[in-house]
Amino acid sequence: MTVKQVLITGACGEIGQALVQELAKKGGYRVVTSDIAPLPESIKSLVAEHVQGDLVYKVKVFYDYDFDVIFHLAASLSSKAEIATEEAHRINVEGTMQLLMLAAYRSEKYGKSVKFLFPSSIAAYGMPTLEAKRGAGTVVEEDWDFPHTMYGCNKLYCEKLGMYYSKFHGQKHLDEKPPVMLDFRAIRFPGLISAFTLPSGGTSDYGPEMLHAAAQGKAYSCFVRPDTKISFMAMPDAIKSLMMMLDAPRESLTTNVYNVAAFAITAEDFRKRALKAFPNAMVTYEPNPRRQGIVDSWPEDVDDSRARNDWNWKPDYDVDRFFEEYFLPEIRKRYGK
Ligand code: SER
Repeated sequence: MTVKQVLITGACGEIGQALVQELAKKGGYRVVTSDIAPLPESIKSLVAEHVQGDLVYKVKVFYDYDFDVIFHLAASLSSKAEIATEEAHRINVEGTMQLLMLAAYRSEKYGKSVKFLFPSSIAAYGMPTLEAKRGAGTVVEEDWDFPHTMYGCNKLYCEKLGMYYSKFHGQKHLDEKPPVMLDFRAIRFPGLISAFTLPSGGTSDYGPEMLHAAAQGKAYSCFVRPDTKISFMAMPDAIKSLMMMLDAPRESLTTNVYNVAAFAITAEDFRKRALKAFPNAMVTYEPNPRRQGIVDSWPEDVDDSRARNDWNWKPDYDVDRFFEEYFLPEIRKRYGK
């Protein structure tokens, strides 16, 4: 079996850690990781090599590698990016641009299309008002693409950059032989929830933070209103979608950017579920206007029928299965409750 060479940036993040584990479980991949932080002990043995440092300055190191696949996960998430906007732009856009250039160069030079997988986000959307959000229902990829956050602008623009490098870079004339281009595939994720790791710097973080706090018997003050509703997904489904996207034949893909969805629930739904599982949970509400504004600009739910049609996407976990079969059993083991 030929071993696929894989680069995962932002490997110490929540998606990164889970993805490293999945690739190791499947086998057939040699995984190189990069992150600003050292690798956590839990995944160290699963990785061939780790390049630690600021991706923008480290990309040149990777010109010597023959990657088949790049999962570019490194990013500054939405709440953090609003506090340090220029720095977020540097990480989110410049880092992506550098890696796209690398993948484009290698694809053309060696005549082998590098697969570039990019997690985009519901933050790419921007609903102008709460009324619009409530009236919009599930939104498709092309609608409401007017992000309110630096992170959302960065994600939307990087989707466009990915399409540019995979279709138009070089602007070859029709009668010239087209070069081999990189194969850009982006998934717009909803809020993700893992039983094993906690997010940091995001705005959908109230969901996982509340559940982890409840499971540990810690008080939690929720930074959005009880009626705040967006779409969420179990981490194993996020990883499943990335692996499906990786394996989907190019001919079956009708676009470069796909929504995926699992369940859309409110902050109060989280609180009720947390209380049912952990009757001593202490959850109060103390909305933070800035973070509330960000979540209010994200759609209540997204339409993922394109992913379902093109590559047979379907989540394993709806809201009941998420709690009963994934989150609660795992979290009880973790915190011994
Ligand atoms: N979970 C991310 C955030 O909250 C959205 O992609 O920033």
